[in-house]
Amino acid sequence: MNILILGSGGREHALAWAVLQNPKCDRLIVAPGNAGIAEIAECAELDILDGAALADWACEESVDIVIVGPEAPLAAGVADALTEAGIAVFGPSAAAARLEASKAFTKEICAAVGAPTAAYARFDALAPALAHVADHPLPVVVKADGLAAGKGVTVAETRDEAKAALRALFAEPGAEVVIEAFLAGEEASFFCLVDGETVLPLGSAQDHKRIGEGDTGPNTGGMGAYSPAPVMTAEVERRALDEIVRPTMAEMVRRGTPFRGVLFVGLMIEDGAPALVEYNVRFGDPECQCLMMRLGGQALDLMLACAEGRLAEARVNWADDHAVCVVMAARGYPGPYAKGGEIGGLDALPRDSRRMAFHAGTALRDGRVVATGGRVLGLTARGATLAEARDAAYAMADAVDWPDGIMRRDIGWRALGR
Ligand code: AMP
Ligand code: GLY
Repeated sequence: MNILILGSGGREHALAWAVLQNPKCDRLIVAPGNAGIAEIAECAELDILDGAALADWACEESVDIVIVGPEAPLAAGVADALTEAGIAVFGPSAAAARLEASKAFTKEICAAVGAPTAAYARFDALAPALAHVADHPLPVVVKADGLAAGKGVTVAETRDEAKAALRALFAEPGAEVVIEAFLAGEEASFFCLVDGETVLPLGSAQDHKRIGEGDTGPNTGGMGAYSPAPVMTAEVERRALDEIVRPTMAEMVRRGTPFRGVLFVGLMIEDGAPALVEYNVRFGDPECQCLMMRLGGQALDLMLACAEGRLAEARVNWADDHAVCVVMAARGYPGPYAKGGEIGGLDALPRDSRRMAFHAGTALRDGRVVATGGRVLGLTARGATLAEARDAAYAMADAVDWPDGIMRRDIGWRALGR
C-alpha cells in the first residue's frame, strides 16, 4: 500500500514509525514531516489544508490511504475532499470535526444525550461574560470556543484572573468564549476508534499539560505522557463508553454527521465517575507516541479497519506493557523561545522496538539537526513496568546534547506514586 500521513510533529513521527512496521506498507510519504521523519520516510512539501490539491496529488501518486495527524486539516474539510475523490482517509469529516473545533457544539451534543460534562455558558461579548463570572463559584474555567492548540484555557482561581482571561480573549475581534464550571478529579486521555456507531476502545494515557514539575505553571501542548493511565479502570472505561462515548456517537449518526476516525476523549474522573472535559478528533500529542510504541504495526490495520468501516470485526491486541514519552522543549516554551540551536547525540540513541526518539520541532540544516519548534523531541520507551519505561526514556533524554533543551523530570509521577 501507498500511505500518506499529514503532519509534522512527534505524533506523526510515531504514526510513521508504527505504520512502517506493518508489512502492508510499501511506500510511506509524510507531508510536510520533519528531520526525524525524513530519516524513515519520504517527506513531501504539500499544503495540508488544501483538500482539493491533496486529493489530486494522492490520485496521481496512487495513495491508498491518508492518515490525518492534526485537527486543522480535518476542520478544513480535507477528509471530505479525499473521500469525494475516492481515497480512503483516517480522520473525520469537517462536520464531525466540530466535536473539537467548537466546544459549544460538543456541549450541545452532550446536553442532547445527557452525557456528564461541566455546566457552561457561551458569550460573544465581554460585558455579559464579566457579569457571569462575578457570581460564578470558583475556580471557574474560561475557554476560547474554537481551535486554540491547547492554549485557550484558563482555570481561574480568582475572579480577577477570570476577568483578565476574558479581557484577553475578547481583545480578538469576533471572539466566542465558553465559561465552564470547574471539574475536580484526575484527568485521563481515552482513545477510541469510531466508525459511525461502532466504538472500539483503543487505550488510555495521561498527559502532563503544565510546563512545571508537580503539574504547575502554564499549560503547554503536553510535556510528557504515559500509557496506560491507571485511573482508567475497567469500570471507569465501561462508564465512559456507556454514559459519554456511545450516546454522543449515536447522536452524531442521528444528525447525519457520523464520526469516523480516532476520538480523543478527555475525561475528568472523580470517585470512579467520568465526566467529559473535551473531545478531540485526532490522536493526542504526546499520548500518540506512547500508544504507537505499544501498538506497533497493528496500528495500521486498526486505522485501515476504521477508514473502511470494518471496525466491528477489528480487535486490539494489547501487551501487558507500559510506555513513557518525555518531551524536550526549547527553553522559554510555552512563551517565546530560541530557534536554530543544534541538537547533538541523536545518532547514538538506541532505536529498536522499545525505544525511539520521536522528533517534533526539528529540521535539517547543512546536515545537522536543529530545533525549530517549542516542543522538539519526544523520547519514548516501552517497558514491562512503568518505572522501567520511565528509566529508559530518561536515559535517552540525558544522552541528548542540546543546551537550549528543557524537560520535566517527573513524567508519570501520579501513576508511579499509586
Ligand atoms: P481543553 O482545551 O478543554 O482540554 O482544556 C485544557 C485543560 O484545561 C484540560 O486538559 C484541563 O486540565 C483543564 N480544564 C478544561 N476544562 C476544565 C474544567 N471544566 N474543569 C477543570 N479543568 C478543566
Ligand atoms: N496532549 C494533548 C493534546 O494533544 O491535545
